[in-house]
Amino acid sequence: MTSEKEVALVTGAGRGIGLATTKRLLEDGFHVVMLDVNPDPLTANADELRAASNSVEHHVLSVTDRAAVAALTSSFPRIDVLVNNAAIFWDGKFDEVTEDDFRKMYEVNVIGSFVMAQEAAKQMERGARIINVASRAYLAGYAHAPYITSKAGSIGLTRAMAIDLAGRGILVNSVAPGLIETEMFRSLTPERQQELIAKQPTKEIGQPEDIANGIAFFASPRTKNVTGQILALDGGRSMGITLY
Ligand SMILES: NC(=O)c1ccc[n+]([C@@H]2O[C@H](COP(=O)([O-])OP(=O)(O)OC[C@H]3O[C@@H](n4cnc5c(N)ncnc54)[C@H](O)[C@@H]3O)[C@@H](O)[C@H]2O)c1
Repeated sequence: MTSEKEVALVTGAGRGIGLATTKRLLEDGFHVVMLDVNPDPLTANADELRAASNSVEHHVLSVTDRAAVAALTSSFPRIDVLVNNAAIFWDGKFDEVTEDDFRKMYEVNVIGSFVMAQEAAKQMERGARIINVASRAYLAGYAHAPYITSKAGSIGLTRAMAIDLAGRGILVNSVAPGLIETEMFRSLTPERQQELIAKQPTKEIGQPEDIANGIAFFASPRTKNVTGQILALDGGRSMGITLY
């Protein structure tokens, strides 16, 4: 690890938006710590990035595992940025959703972010930044009640932490992606994918790099005086001009 570089932790970094964020933060001069519960493709992607840069490391860990998270975060003398990106998602009509669906999604998407932030904040100094990856779905949507609820929880967590950590000079913000072309989106049926794209004002699907760009704004040491905010990166869908 090169100590002069700012240290950024990215959860769910093995693929999709987390991987794109890792690449962007590396370009922006951070030492990036890639975290994911799934060793594959995390390890393969980290190895590939390490071939070109010694500023990347990776660890297999679940954001819900307090002991593993604490052991990792306390190993860094200073943490400058935390990107809470890891999440799980699946579709399901309300009358078919189970209590277990709700508990599992809440555990990873909300409590996981809380655990990561609470432990990382112990190593943070004034000017550190936390970015929670929420979703446009926090506003509304159909056939994914546990996910929507968890992402509304993620936004609530951002606003609560922004207030509670403001006195310590730690900035906390959210990005709210719309439809983004990742494995998460590809897990939907082709019919559901087309249906969702049709609802986009732009009629286009976003790319992981679009979200990484928004995250990079909040992660930058040049971004000051902004906290508790939500940046929608969703092709305009959050304006509400199309039916949910
Ligand atoms: N793809 C979209 O259309 C979309 C839209 C809105 C919001 N988002 C949000 O963006 C973020 C990234 O989504 P993505 O599309 O890249 O998803 P993805 O499923 O491709 O990647 C998520 C990563 O998180 C990891 N992960 C899951 N549980 C974990 C845990 N307990 N601990 C550590 N890592 C864990 C997975 O292994 C995976 O590598 C998520 O927060 C998601 O809710 C995605």
